[in-house]
Amino acid sequence: MAGLARALAHAPRNRTVARLARSRAAAWLVNPHADVTAAELRAAVAGKTVLVTGASYGLGAATARRLGAAGATVVLLARTEHALEETARAVREAGGFAHPYPVDLSDPAAVEPVAADIIDRHGPVDVLVNNAGKSIRRSIADSTGRFGDFERTIGVNYLGPVRLMLALLPAMRERGSGHLVNISTIGVRIPPGPRWAAYQASKSAFDVFFRSTAAEAAADGVTASSVYMALIRTRMSAPTAIFDNLPGLSADEAAGIVCRAIVSRPAKISPWWADAAEVVFSAARHPWERIVAGMYRDSHGATTTQDTREIRP
Ligand SMILES: NC(=O)c1ccc[n+]([C@@H]2O[C@H](COP(=O)([O-])OP(=O)(O)OC[C@H]3O[C@@H](n4cnc5c(N)ncnc54)[C@H](OP(=O)(O)O)[C@@H]3O)[C@@H](O)[C@H]2O)c1
Repeated sequence: MAGLARALAHAPRNRTVARLARSRAAAWLVNPHADVTAAELRAAVAGKTVLVTGASYGLGAATARRLGAAGATVVLLARTEHALEETARAVREAGGFAHPYPVDLSDPAAVEPVAADIIDRHGPVDVLVNNAGKSIRRSIADSTGRFGDFERTIGVNYLGPVRLMLALLPAMRERGSGHLVNISTIGVRIPPGPRWAAYQASKSAFDVFFRSTAAEAAADGVTASSVYMALIRTRMSAPTAIFDNLPGLSADEAAGIVCRAIVSRPAKISPWWADAAEVVFSAARHPWERIVAGMYRDSHGATTTQDTREIRP
């Protein structure tokens, strides 16, 4: 009797634990895995210069901390100075070296001087992790008069990283070595959904730029990995209620996947189901688009917005 009473008293907590366990299991099933040991990461990055954009929060900060613990010199780029300093402190405490550069990647005048300063002080970077990003979820109906949404996403997700690569790549190619990592999204590999026009168009643009550039840079010994991430629980995904019940990785788990890209240098890391999904969606494009349009019509266009500036603490 007492056991039953105890079980009933703990039922809500047990339900929460069970839900979390289901969510963890689902995330494990649908995402790529890290599969990299601390020793392998150390062998790949100790004493090397690794530049991580968007290193103030989320995936970038978690990646920088792992690289620091493996003995890398981590160059950290983002806008928020105090958060960059926080990541730098964590990198140093973990045994690495950290150099924060507060910069707005979408500012056309800011990127080239920073890149020149980085090359002056550290030489050609060994690994560039293009991670900084901005997501906006808003219907086109709600976007009239909001052209800035498109300028901001294209600025951070496309033009900024293009400028950075144009500035850093020549020194890497001249030296004949280096590795480029692009943190892309699974959204560029499946059909574009309603409300994601600004974000998915900007991420798709850089995905194409990156892969085309990779084909050229390979001839000079510079390798490249595109990492197609599914849901990661960071401040980027936090405001979007539709993600609440989907399986997501923690920033640290996703950082493990970025480390795998740095160690193994594959052309692509993607969830196992994405290749099949691409084939199915392209064969069934017309019916799929009709289903999605019907679902959008029935949802009455309810919009939530993700803007990392607006939700900044
Ligand atoms: N979260 C997901 O579910 C998910 C899924 C697929 C792909 N991704 C991709 O993963 C990457 C990391 O996102 P996250 O989830 O870690 O998001 P996050 O926590 O919001 O971090 C985004 C990072 O980008 C930086 N950033 C934004 N605008 C910038 C600008 N104008 N100049 C310089 N840095 C800027 C932010 O720093 P400041 O604000 O300090 O500048 C922050 O460090 C992004 O490329 C995103 O597209 C995320």
